[in-house]
Amino acid sequence: MDPPHTIYPFFGLRVVDIIRSKRDGHALSRDAIEAFIQGITDGSWTDYQASALLMAIVLRGMTAEETSRLTDAMVRSGQRVDLSSIPGIKVGKHSTGGVGDKVSIVLAPVAAACGVIVPKMSGRGLGHTGGTLDKLESIPGFRVALSLDEFIAILRDVGCCLISQTRDVAPADKRLYALRDVTATIESIPLISASVMSKKLSEGSDAVVLDVKCGSGAFMKGRDEALALARSLVSIGESHGVRTEAFITNMDTPLGGAVGNALEIAECIDTLKGAGPPDLVALIVRLGTRMVQLANRANSEAEAEACVRNALESGAALGKFQEMLVRQGGDAGVIDDAGKLPQARSRKYIEAAAAGYITRLDAEAVGRAAVMLGAGRARVDAPIDLAAGVTVLKKPGDAINQGDSVLALHYNEGRQLDEAIRLAESGIDIGDTPPPATPLVLGWVHAQGEMSYV
Ligand code: URA
Repeated sequence: MDPPHTIYPFFGLRVVDIIRSKRDGHALSRDAIEAFIQGITDGSWTDYQASALLMAIVLRGMTAEETSRLTDAMVRSGQRVDLSSIPGIKVGKHSTGGVGDKVSIVLAPVAAACGVIVPKMSGRGLGHTGGTLDKLESIPGFRVALSLDEFIAILRDVGCCLISQTRDVAPADKRLYALRDVTATIESIPLISASVMSKKLSEGSDAVVLDVKCGSGAFMKGRDEALALARSLVSIGESHGVRTEAFITNMDTPLGGAVGNALEIAECIDTLKGAGPPDLVALIVRLGTRMVQLANRANSEAEAEACVRNALESGAALGKFQEMLVRQGGDAGVIDDAGKLPQARSRKYIEAAAAGYITRLDAEAVGRAAVMLGAGRARVDAPIDLAAGVTVLKKPGDAINQGDSVLALHYNEGRQLDEAIRLAESGIDIGDTPPPATPLVLGWVHAQGEMSYV
């Protein structure tokens, strides 16, 4: 057999030839990648053909050159938003996906309160991880599908705006993302890189801070894979003229205390009121400090951090969130009355089987349990239950007595409740001593170098 990643120019651009070429481990030519993305955008490739190629990419990989071309083609499936009419350095943010990862929803208004312009194109739930768009849609009336004119006007007036891909901006990612969610084709460095960076390059940011999740609840389970993804993302961003930095952060256990769309919005509002869980606040402060620095809104790291903390504690970020919410059609009443968010009818508590310390609370098990309860999708067109999810009542290191509630499962239909209970129980370990503390931020990758904090 020929070595992988040889380009076979004599393969035609017939869909089946492109799929076969990648299936057999060859690198796709520029034309083949263009044909694929064109077919995704104009609908001429069927879902089953696209899914077959996605699976071949997951199994066979892509070279850095193919990944860069795929990203380019996905950016060119729509238009790059031009934000030059708004003064200042625009700083985007994106996470590669985690459980309970609601950082963007708080961080965008926090950074905006510090004077940073934050254009943010987000995604929906992917696999066992939640999506910013689904979370925001649990706020009655909130619209994520805005026109470009609306996006730009809100950015200019408020400083932050969170939207979905549109017909005009990154449409190829929209379709591929939905297919990958339901065809077990998420875990791929080239596909994640192209998906994330096509949105970041399209949204009009001058600089981007990325949160590459690493651990059981992430798509990159190990440090080496997470580092490779971080390098891939930074290199694509930098080669397209966007200053790009990636933090590698721990995702072995859910972030904060809520997993599930409406539950997470309630936690975001608490955090914006200065009452957020310590891990969530710490990550927001770390990423926000960097965003403020990249936007040149502070003279030192200490000054940037003080600005971020003040935005959270003074209510300034909450004010920005409220402005954004109103401009995007959402009911601002949710800020004072979380009862206006969708609420699940039933709860099932998962109790500690023994006394001791929580030594493991597995993010993937909790994320999958939340999907079973209705918080995520099993099919592209499946509706999700915005009220469903899990609240985390105890975290690793907490002391517990036998019978203490560790998790609460929130559900309406509960069709897969037994499976969700089984998953949730399988994610909890209890021991006689507390587990060693693990840092939240594991590493930092940027154009000038890399740092490891472990
Ligand atoms: N976030 C994205 O936007 N795309 C991915 O593929 C994974 C996380």
